Amino acid sequence: MGIPSAKPFFSEEDIESISREIPSILRSGRLILGPYTRRFETLFQEYCGVKRAVAVSSCTSALEITLRYYDVVGKEIIVPTNTFIATSNAVLYAGGQTVLADIKPDTLCLDPEDLRQRITPLTKGVIVVHIAGLPCPDINEIQTICKERGLFLIEDVAHAHGATINGKKTGSLGHAGCFSFYPTKVMTTGTGGMITTDDDNLADYAVSLRHHGVGNGLTHIINLGNDWLMDEVTALLGLYQLKALESNLAKRNAIARRYSEALAGTEGVRLFYVPSNIRHSYYKYATFLSPFIDRLKLTERMKEEYDIELGSIYDPPCHLQPVYQRLFGYCFGMYARADETLKHICCLPMFPQITPEEIDYVIKSFKSVLQESKREKITV
Ligand SMILES: Cc1ncc(COP(=O)(O)O)c(C=O)c1O
Repeated sequence: MGIPSAKPFFSEEDIESISREIPSILRSGRLILGPYTRRFETLFQEYCGVKRAVAVSSCTSALEITLRYYDVVGKEIIVPTNTFIATSNAVLYAGGQTVLADIKPDTLCLDPEDLRQRITPLTKGVIVVHIAGLPCPDINEIQTICKERGLFLIEDVAHAHGATINGKKTGSLGHAGCFSFYPTKVMTTGTGGMITTDDDNLADYAVSLRHHGVGNGLTHIINLGNDWLMDEVTALLGLYQLKALESNLAKRNAIARRYSEALAGTEGVRLFYVPSNIRHSYYKYATFLSPFIDRLKLTERMKEEYDIELGSIYDPPCHLQPVYQRLFGYCFGMYARADETLKHICCLPMFPQITPEEIDYVIKSFKSVLQESKREKITV
């Protein structure tokens, strides 16, 4: 009974409908920039409550295009260290300099106080990451800081499709939202991404940049672009995933409730508080292990003894990645709260099609390994 930490989900009904539609795309001769891409963009912008959505090849390209639009060459962009390295790499690819910032342990998201302290005359913008699917609860304060200091605010929405804060969707909370449709994500198209924005100029620039910088057709290249298109078959998958998103979010929230009810008060693990004005999208169900528990050992045991895969988010964070240590000289201790917190974060399997029996098996196995860890600690 192997249970992965994440798994893409297409219902049987959707698989059948997708299989029926693919031949007409293949016969149409229009494999890029056709009606499926346009429809996916239109429905996605309506869903997020923004003026424009532009489909691209990945979240990484979405971020790079957006950062290029803001012309970050030689400028500093503040990024939480707790993110996948692609967020920060996009800044480097666009010619900017990443300034990593610390996180709040109770949200795992960017700490507005730390952000304030890292602003310099060279700072041009901020990227906020809605980590694990929790829309950053401090977004209002971060919006205010950006407004006061004249900074752009990009949301990295790789984890948080459909999440809301005060009823407002992620992807509509900053100047631009950058989404991922990577296989583990809440919505997937294999690979793929989307930019959401109310800024027509950014959207038009993205339309040009994703296709080698085209102006009026491929003979007039007006920007330095790249091959960052989403193809029509990918957009078809996106349309079905978008249609299923609300139902999948409800399933993810129900799974999270089941985990929270079963684990409340369990020794060795603390649960995260989700404010009532927030709808979490539960890309991951994160828990906070007590300091006496070795997460790596616990993860190994869950895999070896119960064939259950647990996750982390993110350990190591950006500043502890070997490539950044080599290139920029970061080291342990530079981001005290991230260093202290992230090694204790453990994520339970989360995907819409996990069965009630599998959830019970995860809970039972997790509790039993927590008990064993506690006994070992006491006898050491
Ligand atoms: C927070 C975050 N940002 C960006 C990315 C990059 O997404 P993509 O693989 O679509 O480029 C990921 C992917 O894992 C991510 O988790």
